[in-house]
Amino acid sequence: MHIFNDVVKLQLALDSYRKKNETIAFVPTMGGLHEGHLSLVRLAKQKADKVVVSIFVNPTQFGENEDFDKYPNTLSNDKSLLIDNEVDVLFNPDADRVYPDGFATDIKLDSTEGILCGASRPGHFQGVAQVVKRLFDIVKPDVAIFGQKDYQQLLIIKQMVKNLSLDIDIKSGDIVRQKSGLAMSTRNQYLSTNEAITAANLYKILNELKQGYLNNQQLDLLINQAKKQLEHHFKLDYIEVLDANTLRQITDNTHEIAILSAVFLGPVRLIDNIIFRRKNV
Ligand code: PAJ
Repeated sequence: MHIFNDVVKLQLALDSYRKKNETIAFVPTMGGLHEGHLSLVRLAKQKADKVVVSIFVNPTQFGENEDFDKYPNTLSNDKSLLIDNEVDVLFNPDADRVYPDGFATDIKLDSTEGILCGASRPGHFQGVAQVVKRLFDIVKPDVAIFGQKDYQQLLIIKQMVKNLSLDIDIKSGDIVRQKSGLAMSTRNQYLSTNEAITAANLYKILNELKQGYLNNQQLDLLINQAKKQLEHHFKLDYIEVLDANTLRQITDNTHEIAILSAVFLGPVRLIDNIIFRRKNV
C-alpha cells in the first residue's frame, strides 16, 4: 500500500493509474477504522481497479464543544487493516494540505442541511460537504463509497454531486452492526461495557417501530411509543419517520421509508437508521 501525505505525490501516483486506463474508487474516512469502514473498502474493490482510502479528521465538521481534540487516532492499526484489505493507496494528509492558506469554498446545500443531525450540529454538513468536495478535487475518483450509517450525509453528498454535475458515481454500503445490533461507529470506543449494552436498545427500538408500521399500526402512536422507550435509556435528540429519498414527510408518492434517530448516552451521541420499502405502494 502506498501512503501519501502530499497532494502532488498522490496525484502523480493516481495519474499513473489513469494512464493505464485503471479506474479509481475512493473511500473517505476519519480513521478509527472498524468493520463498517472495511465493508466499504471491500465494496470499493468490486467497483474499480484501484482503491484509495483517505484518513483525515476534518476540523471544519466538528462543533465547538465536540470531540475534535480527542477523536480516536488508531493510525498504525488502521494501516494494517487497510493493508490486509489490499487497499492500493492511503491518503493521510495534514490539515494544511487539505486547506492550504487562503482556501475558502462554501458549498451551497439545500434545506436538508438544517434538519435532523444538521439541527443539533449547526454547520456540520457544511464542513462535510466542504471536505468531501476538496477530497474529490484532489483524488478525482470514478466512484466514491459512503455508508448508509450516516444516511443524511449520504443524501447531502449525492445532492452535491448532482448540483455541481460532478462525474463521480456515488455508491452506498449497508450498515454493519455488532451482534447486539449496535451500529459500528468509531465513537463506540467511548462507551463502557454497560453503556454498549444499553446502546443496543437504539436499533431494537427502531426495529420495533418498523415492524409496527409494517403491521399497519398507526404511525403517530408508534413514534410516541418509540420516543418513550428511547427516553427510558437515552437523552433523545430526535426520532423521525420520513420519505427516504427526500427526508420530507411521507406522501402518497413515498416508496421508501427512513426511520432515523439520534440519542445521547452520557457524552456519546449515537445515530442509527433503518431504510425499508413501503408496503403496498
Ligand atoms: P467516518 O465517520 O470515518 O465514516 C467514514 C465512512 O464510513 C462514512 O461513509 C460512514 O457512513 C461509513 N460508516 C461508518 N460506520 C459504518 C457502519 N457501521 N456501517 C457502514 N458504514 C459505516 O463519515 C465520515 O467519516 C466523515 O464525515 C467523512 C465523510 C470522511 C468526511 O470527513
